[in-house]
Amino acid sequence: MSSIFTSKHILLGITGSIAAYKAAELASRLTQEGAQVDVILTPAAERFVAPLTFQSVTGRKAFTEAELWGGEAHVLHVGLGHSADLLVIAPCTANTIARLAHGIADDLLTITALAARCPIIIAPAMDVGMYTHPATQENIRLLNERGLHFAGPGEGRMASGLTGKGRMLEPAELLGHMRLILGKNGKLAGRKVVVTAGGTQEPIDPVRVITNRSSGKQGYALAQAALDAGAQVTLITAPTALSAPVGARLIEVRTAAEMLEAVLAESAGVDALLMAAAVADFRPKKAAENKLKKQDGILQIELEAAPDILETVAGQKSRKNRPCLVVGFAAESRDLVKNASAKLSSKKLDMIVANDITAPDSGFAVNTNRVTLLFKDAKVESLPLMSKAEVAEVILERVAGMLPKA
Ligand code: C5P
Repeated sequence: MSSIFTSKHILLGITGSIAAYKAAELASRLTQEGAQVDVILTPAAERFVAPLTFQSVTGRKAFTEAELWGGEAHVLHVGLGHSADLLVIAPCTANTIARLAHGIADDLLTITALAARCPIIIAPAMDVGMYTHPATQENIRLLNERGLHFAGPGEGRMASGLTGKGRMLEPAELLGHMRLILGKNGKLAGRKVVVTAGGTQEPIDPVRVITNRSSGKQGYALAQAALDAGAQVTLITAPTALSAPVGARLIEVRTAAEMLEAVLAESAGVDALLMAAAVADFRPKKAAENKLKKQDGILQIELEAAPDILETVAGQKSRKNRPCLVVGFAAESRDLVKNASAKLSSKKLDMIVANDITAPDSGFAVNTNRVTLLFKDAKVESLPLMSKAEVAEVILERVAGMLPKA
């Protein structure tokens, strides 16, 4: 199994901003994901961080101005620029943005950027006044027009003590932007995928809910894998503690009824609906208007069936409202294959992903999963223990294989 970064050659340009210290984490995470990371520091960047920092996390030589005037000189920038899959400049100062906009190539990084033919992502980092200055805004417009990608900046506290727009995005978010660019032409390019995730919450009163132990991890991993494959992704999520993958359109819901409404609105005519959410089967018949009091004694909560989303999707009369492929999930504590295959046919699914929630390394909250895939044509595929990200990759691979040619 491979991450989207495996064997990718990433050039990481670093310019003179205090946010340069965060670039060390970015370089480290990219390296851990399997990328080959070549770092180029501008002379100003070297005043904030040392090449040794980057050499230590990437295991590769970090390039500086010294190399530009060294033995390899002119071939270096062309070589670096031509072999890269992606050039990311993080942090990128107002000065470097201006130099890039005007084709000025006066250091190794800007020379490389000019020679590079790969996509370029810029993560601006500067004071709010510099960011909003018409000169900077005009340069950004120019670069956007030329097809460079901007990631951020975000808003918040700056080194100057001021608060405003100009903060470099955090490494995790920058990785999300990089994935979007690297996955753009993947197997699911041009396809629309809707993913549901998390455990729904059914109110008992204004403070209490009935919910379940779903963490949303498998659903979020599916949304990320679909984005990595180039799909346009809508993530319909019940409350979770997770950050949404960069690039997904997020729709937040709480109850099964809200999720049903969102799924019907969003999944009409899409290529695939992946129903990974743990949707309530029962809900309180009526939620109390006020908080229930202990003094009122032990109460009985009357339950009723929550709507079954997959059955409603499958039961839709108009064919064009139905997603092309529907994938369900089954968390089972016994008779895994038997129960899952009954759901596959009763919910009219194309595929069901079954997992045994009694295994300690599989199911709720953990980062790994051991699943069995059951298909409409009765084929069964048991996967070994994998990370939820790897499971998601296999599922999306099967989905891509089952979709009719676009
Ligand atoms: O029957 P069971 O709840 O185990 O089926 C699981 C599958 O059905 C999951 O894909 C889940 O998202 C979906 N489901 C649903 N509506 C419900 C309950 C479950 O769509 N009310």
